[in-house]
Amino acid sequence: MTLPDTMQALVQLHDGYSGTQEGPSIDTLELYLEAREVPVPQPQADQVVIKVDLAAVNPSDLHFIKGEYGQPRIKDAPAGFEGVGTVVAGDSPLVGQRVSFFATQSGTWAEYAMTKSQGLIPCRPDLRAEDAAGQIVNPLTAMAMFDIVRESGAKSFVLNAAGSQLGKLLIGLGRDNGIAPIAVVRRAEQADLLRELGASEVLVTSDDDMMAKAEPVLKSLKPRILLDAVGDQTTADLFFAMPNRARWVNYGKLSTTPPKLTQMGQLIFQHKVIEGFWLTRWMQETDPAKLGSVIEEVQERFVSGKWKTDVAAIVPLSEAMEKLPAATKIPDGKVFIKP
Ligand SMILES: NC(=O)c1ccc[n+]([C@@H]2O[C@H](COP(=O)([O-])OP(=O)(O)OC[C@H]3O[C@@H](n4cnc5c(N)ncnc54)[C@H](OP(=O)(O)O)[C@@H]3O)[C@@H](O)[C@H]2O)c1
Repeated sequence: MTLPDTMQALVQLHDGYSGTQEGPSIDTLELYLEAREVPVPQPQADQVVIKVDLAAVNPSDLHFIKGEYGQPRIKDAPAGFEGVGTVVAGDSPLVGQRVSFFATQSGTWAEYAMTKSQGLIPCRPDLRAEDAAGQIVNPLTAMAMFDIVRESGAKSFVLNAAGSQLGKLLIGLGRDNGIAPIAVVRRAEQADLLRELGASEVLVTSDDDMMAKAEPVLKSLKPRILLDAVGDQTTADLFFAMPNRARWVNYGKLSTTPPKLTQMGQLIFQHKVIEGFWLTRWMQETDPAKLGSVIEEVQERFVSGKWKTDVAAIVPLSEAMEKLPAATKIPDGKVFIKP
């Protein structure tokens, strides 16, 4: 296939880190990105170019363009980490095939993206585009963190931001594996849906007596793992109310107000642990054979209907500068960019 010389892309206006901690909400893209015609990336050894069908918009992308993520921005490079598309050039037997991928060399918020040949995930033909476009960041994180839950041996676990796409995937895993999810949300109207999905308890942080409601639940279900995307005071209070040997696994920083850790003695005398989880590190450390079987299970879960990607909006690439900020504020679903 002959590739065009240029393409449309949302390119970054800044290098490096911003030093701010404002969280992943955006009111305008103009501070961070510009829609531009740029050269189509040229693959070197071990790289492929992918024609993007659909790109995901994750909180990590928004943290990243704002300069608040775990890796530096690159000025003039297209943004967007995750997507699905067809391999059109480069060093790979998968040229011509539909793959999910994480763009390490040139981002997915563009007509063409570039990444390393090794990380490509061939997609089953029956996998929906929206599931394929978001197949890596949230599903693999859910599978990896659910292993931590399983290994804890407890019959329940706590998760916050439970109405997020990742939260709903975790609830599905708890339901299907007989480990009761204790879901924490900030909006009461999410409770019924999360119970239908399989949450055994739903705690609402905006309730005045939320901790009074949480304490008997934690006492009777005895969860050991707290999967935390928020990192606020309520999270800390829940952790200190959990039983001995509880592990607080922080994997997101949705709150911009950090907690006060009021009972540090619990780390010493109750053997409690606070730690972080980052998918990037998990993928580097995980045996490729295990990764292959996890990916197979992820695709099977989507195709069989055990998991579903809720879609808030699909925004055309040509309109993304104007429409993406409002789309990211639609609750209870993921936003995608369509080149
Ligand atoms: N560490 C890793 O490797 C890794 C990998 C994947 C994802 N993540 C993280 O996982 C989290 C969820 O990702 P996602 O794509 O599933 O998100 P999502 O579908 O976009 O949903 C975001 C959720 O966060 C909730 N939220 C936002 N700000 C909040 C706050 N201050 N307090 C409480 N809840 C808040 C929202 O609640 P409302 O509906 O009430 O607004 C919404 O349910 C993000 O933090 C993301 O960065 C981390």
